[in-house]
Amino acid sequence: MKLTIKTLNRTLLAVAVVSIAGMSTATMASEKQAGDFGRGAMQWVDHCGRCHNVRDPKELRDDQWVSTVYHMRIRAGLTGQQTRDILTFLQASN
Ligand code: HEC
Repeated sequence: MKLTIKTLNRTLLAVAVVSIAGMSTATMASEKQAGDFGRGAMQWVDHCGRCHNVRDPKELRDDQWVSTVYHMRIRAGLTGQQTRDILTFLQASN
């Protein structure tokens, strides 16, 4: 293949399309990440003691934490990821 400005442009365009597609897949994957125990423990300390004493994970069952954490998510203004992380921590520690 002779390297002309036209073929070079085409190659660059193809590279750009592939990297944009790769980036959006990566972004979607990170938005849907499962809850992380370690991050959740830190978020729990940082956020869940702001308005009241930090609540012991043993206070509630797994299913009760689901509704409570989503209720507190609204109050605390947490992101979806922070909420999943905290929920993972609470459910693994009760
Ligand atoms: C912005 C303030 C605020 C933050 C931050 C907050 N809470 Fe609360 N929380 C409240 C208030 C107000 C109540 C009591 C009234 C209510 O239920 O809305 C409450 C009640 C609770 C209760 C008792 C609910 C019940 O039904 O007995 C639990 C458990 C709880 N919070 C856990 C958490 C956890 C876990 C977090 C962190 C994800 C958190 N809270 C963050 C304000 C907050």
